[in-house]
Amino acid sequence: MNDNKITIGMLGAGRIGKMHAENILANFPQVDLKAVVDLKLDFEWAKKVGIPIRSQEITAITDDPKINAVVITTPSNTHVEMIKVMAGAGKNIFCEKPIAFAPDLIRQANKAVEKAGVILQVGFNRRFDTDILKVRNAVESGTIGHPHIINMTSRDPKRPNLKFIPDSGGLFMDFCVHDFDMIRFLTGYEVEEIYARGANLVDPKIGEFGDIDTAVLTLKLSGGAIGIINVCRETNYGYDQQLEVFGSNGSIAAQNRRPTSVKLSCKDGVFLDQPFYSFIERYKEAYIEEINEFIKCLEADEKPSVDGHDALEAVLIAVAAQKSLILNQPVSLKK
Ligand SMILES: NC(=O)c1ccc[n+]([C@@H]2O[C@H](COP(=O)([O-])OP(=O)(O)OC[C@H]3O[C@@H](n4cnc5c(N)ncnc54)[C@H](O)[C@@H]3O)[C@@H](O)[C@H]2O)c1
Repeated sequence: MNDNKITIGMLGAGRIGKMHAENILANFPQVDLKAVVDLKLDFEWAKKVGIPIRSQEITAITDDPKINAVVITTPSNTHVEMIKVMAGAGKNIFCEKPIAFAPDLIRQANKAVEKAGVILQVGFNRRFDTDILKVRNAVESGTIGHPHIINMTSRDPKRPNLKFIPDSGGLFMDFCVHDFDMIRFLTGYEVEEIYARGANLVDPKIGEFGDIDTAVLTLKLSGGAIGIINVCRETNYGYDQQLEVFGSNGSIAAQNRRPTSVKLSCKDGVFLDQPFYSFIERYKEAYIEEINEFIKCLEADEKPSVDGHDALEAVLIAVAAQKSLILNQPVSLKK
């Protein structure tokens, strides 16, 4: 590392890029967030948060030898190119999910990273959530016995802007990719087969782009367990994130988090806060923790716990889910 200082460049500063940048600035005093590059950079924001180099040119990162790591938060369909360029320039990489929609492109990115000898961590933030970690640890230690059923609910509060849909990769690639990673992470099993049923129940205009907004997936896992994932692009009541692993000795579940745990009971009923509204609120600490892992890996010259291999596996499941939806039949993922 240069001067033993971690110097980061942000590539992309939209919705999630700004969040990561502000998290780095607020939580990691040992890190120098030196540059931000975005084709449509919000210069006012970048100046306000105090990032010294503000540019629309990628060379502001690649040509700066002091920058030894980059956080890539540009749209998903740009990630592979960005990874290749950054790995070629010797930068360690944190990249948002998914790395690409096509498995072969992810393999290319992974090869470029391997050849350059740099780190690639992928943004599967849920792996760093304390509730999910508690579930995973219980499964791993055998507390609930042999997993039989993994039941996951994953629903967004509000449908995305229609402009987002064409380049998003679709519901399975953009949204369920987190759930596919979760099912592998929670159980330690691989997905052997998937069956997807999907529909346009939220907005028919999403269907005009060839995408769906609602789906139920059943998965057969390598350990014999069955997974069920139900997803939707709109709840109107918040970000619905619940999961349960049911096994031979019991069950463990992570429920929705709410701004407060206060329960009001009165003649009209019993009331709780709605779940946190968005992923940014629900997984606030997990987003900081994943960057913490990236920084720790840079400091110790270690490999991250979630990498290009995990990125590839989740996308292979998404591809199989899409195929299943089209064929209306289960699709095998056995290698
Ligand atoms: N882990 C999560 O929970 C999570 C949540 C949201 C988004 N994401 C992922 O993060 C990525 C970005 O999503 P977002 O919602 O922030 O998108 P966004 O559209 O808000 O931001 C993307 C930014 O990248 C910039 N950009 C586009 N092409 C560029 C290029 N070639 N060079 C430089 N800048 C470029 C755009 O101007 C924009 O500011 C996507 O891959 C998405 O899947 C992950």
